[in-house]
Amino acid sequence: MIKIKLDNAVDFVEESELESALQQAEKAFKQVVDGTGPGNDWLGWRRILAEPNDAEIDQIQQHATKIREDADIFIVCGIGGSFTGAKAIIEALNMPFNEQGPEILFAGHHMSGRYLEQLLKYIQAPKENGDPKSVYLNVISKSGSTLETALAFRTIRKWMHEAYGDEAKSRIVATTGQTGGVLNKIIAEEGYKKYIIPEDIGGRYSVLTPVGLLPVAVAGIDVQTLYYGAVAEFELQEKNPETVLKYSALRYTLHKKGVALDVIGSFEPELMGFAAWTQQLLGESEGKKGKGLFPAIAGYSTDLHSIGQMVQQGQRNMMETLFVVESPLSKMKVPQVENDTDQLNYLDGKLFHDINKSAREGTVQAHREGGVPVVEIILEKLNAQQLGHLIYFYELMTAVYVYMLEVNPFNQPGVENYKQAMYRLLGKR
Ligand code: PA5
Repeated sequence: MIKIKLDNAVDFVEESELESALQQAEKAFKQVVDGTGPGNDWLGWRRILAEPNDAEIDQIQQHATKIREDADIFIVCGIGGSFTGAKAIIEALNMPFNEQGPEILFAGHHMSGRYLEQLLKYIQAPKENGDPKSVYLNVISKSGSTLETALAFRTIRKWMHEAYGDEAKSRIVATTGQTGGVLNKIIAEEGYKKYIIPEDIGGRYSVLTPVGLLPVAVAGIDVQTLYYGAVAEFELQEKNPETVLKYSALRYTLHKKGVALDVIGSFEPELMGFAAWTQQLLGESEGKKGKGLFPAIAGYSTDLHSIGQMVQQGQRNMMETLFVVESPLSKMKVPQVENDTDQLNYLDGKLFHDINKSAREGTVQAHREGGVPVVEIILEKLNAQQLGHLIYFYELMTAVYVYMLEVNPFNQPGVENYKQAMYRLLGKR
């Protein structure tokens, strides 16, 4: 279960404003549950938790185990909702500098030729013992036609067919919509293994489909626990959505009172990928009809030495949301040394976790006093189950809050504008 601390934010709004926003949040929640809001054919992210497909989760886990046994490198090729979720979970749960299991690389999330050139060089270079690297590729695109992903896929796939011959077919896995798109044509021609993204789930709500589950399982994370963490949160919120309603109502009220930005961050660097996932989820869902809180992200304490200044004393148009992990992620303590030249002996033997906690508590106090409402979203521990809770919490909160804005949370019509201009310049017919 996700805990949420609102004490450092609620004083910025009147009780009566919050009360009336809560009533609106209840209505918006009902629209989500009853499927009566705009975009109601895109509620599959709830359906899959109400009726979990255990056979598919098992199949993904087994496939991932096989890939893990053989792969040195697993490339996730996708953009937007087709990669942020997997990246968020892998960064959160895998240890830094972890050398167990295949290295997970990302591609298709921008158009840098330099990056692709170096990626090809890297995967082609033999291992330390002189053996070639064993490379697998997972292309992920619901539409099957997104340019960034398609270009990277063409480039890496060509290399894989040259390097592995016919065996490339068993090393390339495609995750896409059931029908349509050029990717489905390629799959049919080449016979790649295919996972289906359900029609009723949009990209940024798809992390608990094969889009996120396969890469996460290949990274060695228990996807069943992750998934059932989300199921548990779904069941809890269906009965008692209090936390989601309160947070949605507060965001909505602050926005109405002129707050324009939500600075989303954490003092745990492991959770910055997750912050990026929420940035995409919120940004593409709420930024329409001239409305929405701009979801900025900040990694603390690093960014206290940069945009922290802006948060403390810049324009008073922002709120802040921090992801907190209660239990220490490590038992690392400040080491004792013989003298005190660095004047750090007052911290001797202290857990880094506790020092980081004091930095967070001090920051929350300072930002609040500086005029920034701060919300803390609290996980007991950083594990697959808790992340599952957090994923559903955010999906639901996004839908409820965006319905309060009277906006469709499930489309992204504005994304087409840059594409049309770009295709014109590129001469696409
Ligand atoms: O949330 C969304 O729908 C988008 O961010 C998409 O995930 C993104 O544009 C990638 O699209 P596709 O999976 O079709 O390549």
